[in-house]
Amino acid sequence: MATITLLSNKTKISNPSEVKDFLGKQGIEYRLWETSSDINNLLNQESLSDQEKEEVLLKLDNRFQELSKEFGYKARDLIVLNPNVPGIQDMLAKFDKLHYHTDDEVRYIVDGSGIFGFLINGQKFTVEVEKNDFISVPKNTNHWFELDSKLRIKAVRYFLDNSGWAPVYVNEKDLISSN
Ligand SMILES: [Fe+2]
Repeated sequence: MATITLLSNKTKISNPSEVKDFLGKQGIEYRLWETSSDINNLLNQESLSDQEKEEVLLKLDNRFQELSKEFGYKARDLIVLNPNVPGIQDMLAKFDKLHYHTDDEVRYIVDGSGIFGFLINGQKFTVEVEKNDFISVPKNTNHWFELDSKLRIKAVRYFLDNSGWAPVYVNEKDLISSN
């Protein structure tokens, strides 16, 4: 279940329907999706082989089919991060600065946790996400992403086209002076 924090006054929103409502008004899609319990053993492992990742993805493909029908997503993969992943800090450093993408950033968290941050119409807020949270950040939305101190997350990523999926960095000072 996700928790929103408004950074201006530290207000927190954690009721799922209020979270969905708040994010919906910012153009961000949020859903609470229970993972199927028969893959909990795999999800509880710190790391997964390629075969185990595929097993997890196949079990969750009903969501992929639903999303493909609704939004046209064509590919999915499973990202598994933990403190033992080589180069994890460098990987995280690519996304913890304000940026946007030219494709939607669509994530279904199936284990662990992380923090999205947003700067939308001058308002800054974070969304702490954890297992069972689905979030879709529309293209061209200024955001950042970081892990919490546990450095552990598993998330399904859905793509329209994963070939051009890269961050475009934004300087916050430029946003403020142009507003
Ligand atoms: Fe991003």
